[in-house]
Amino acid sequence: MADRQRRLVVVSNRVGPLNDEGKAGGLAVGLSDALKRRGGLWFGWSGDISEEGTFSAEHTEVQDHVAMTTIDMNQEDIDGFYYGYANRSLWPLLHYRLDLAHFDRQSDRVYRSVNQRFASRLAPMLAEDDLVWVHDYHFFYLGSELRQCGYEGRLGFFLHIPFCPPEIFTALPASHDIVRAMLAYDVVGFQTETDRRNFVAFCIRELGGEKLDGRRVRVGDRTVLAQTFPIGIDAHGYSRFATSPEAGEHEEMLRDLAGDRLQIVGVDRMDYSKGLVERFRGFERLLEDYPENRGNVQFLQVAPLSRSELGAYVDLRRELEELAGHINGRFATLDWTPIQIMTRGFTRRALAGIYRAARVCLVTPLRDGMNLVAKEFVAAQAADDPGVLVLSRFAGARAELSDALIVNPYSTDDIARALQRALTMSFDERSHRWEHMREAVFAGTAAHWCDDFLASLESFDPVTPETDAA
Ligand code: ADP
Ligand code: F6P
Repeated sequence: MADRQRRLVVVSNRVGPLNDEGKAGGLAVGLSDALKRRGGLWFGWSGDISEEGTFSAEHTEVQDHVAMTTIDMNQEDIDGFYYGYANRSLWPLLHYRLDLAHFDRQSDRVYRSVNQRFASRLAPMLAEDDLVWVHDYHFFYLGSELRQCGYEGRLGFFLHIPFCPPEIFTALPASHDIVRAMLAYDVVGFQTETDRRNFVAFCIRELGGEKLDGRRVRVGDRTVLAQTFPIGIDAHGYSRFATSPEAGEHEEMLRDLAGDRLQIVGVDRMDYSKGLVERFRGFERLLEDYPENRGNVQFLQVAPLSRSELGAYVDLRRELEELAGHINGRFATLDWTPIQIMTRGFTRRALAGIYRAARVCLVTPLRDGMNLVAKEFVAAQAADDPGVLVLSRFAGARAELSDALIVNPYSTDDIARALQRALTMSFDERSHRWEHMREAVFAGTAAHWCDDFLASLESFDPVTPETDAA
């Protein structure tokens, strides 16, 4: 086994694309960057809804040594599994938003059943020496279902979003079932130490588990490795995107539009976890408290629509559009529109050009697993005019990008002050901060993330004590 690379099998709700098509979501971006290098099988939902019978159609497409095999689901499954349980129960809860979380028996049932059916479709495709790597909160039960199907090979799980403290997670009626199911994996990966600690605390306090040496956790007869693996981007590839002709066109267009004004950008799926309302208010406060910026800055928020079937997302869109209208109504002049919001997708090259035209990028989520936009912004900057990153203290990326201007995303005043500081920052300070962040982005790429995770999955031995206590 040692001299032959094992096949990688990745499972995630969204699959692909491997190319530069516009696709909003850190998981798809991180995984396609990693899979293109190593090849393997990528298994998940096709993104299509088929009424002919759920799980009936299976599609396979091979590209760059990656076989992408997907299945359709029907409306009932999508409603219960994706909209219901994954995005109305788990997503808000894990992002510390108990106020937005809904729990109901029907979606819990459908979520478990979809996990079970994915497992029974996948199990016959697996070999015992595969490395199976399951992703994100859509598939907490998939590993234990694969074990039920008799699969005994290596199983890893990576959570792309935060893992909230046990005090919040226990509000989920199935919280114990979910964490017990996570113990069917051999390695459980998190974006940050905070997430990992919250998981370990749940195992200890709620399930009577114990922390062994290093990062091993034991609950009953199961021992798992709980470790932090911060996801990154393909930093070299992304810098090349930023100097492509398509990026150049977008950069130039935005610079022409801005003229002498400084450009502020934000790029986020339209999601309540991204702190967009607070960010817009922070921009308004900038114009109130530092009036010299009126007429001299413009703010472009790119916010592709996401999960628009859910009420919380519909409400957010309405609120943001009203807020943008209010700010423009209050401050606009005949030749200046302070804030613009766009919901369309862009190719990754086009987005890189937009980042490059910006003096400031606002990444102010109220809570975020990692946030790849922050890393992309850094990778896209040019050394002769680097922009400034304003980053939330609650984004996972904060651990690596401490040279950003770190803000409390709930504080309108803090955002306004950081914006003012970013807009007036000297070239030397901008350069210095950017150089440090650039080093971090190039040191922790998607390739490192993938290699580190797979090396741990391959080498983890539940019975041998670890030496490096974390
Ligand atoms: P999340 O996974 O919560 O959406 P991330 O910041 O980690 O947040 O990842 C978002 C990814 O989606 C980034 O790679 C970003 O470039 C991409 N993205 C965001 N907005 C757009 C858009 N309008 N068009 C294309 N890609 C986008
Ligand atoms: O990165 C977090 C994540 O939830 C991914 O799992 C997901 O693919 C992405 O954001 C976009 O969300 P969705 O798949 O619901 O459109």
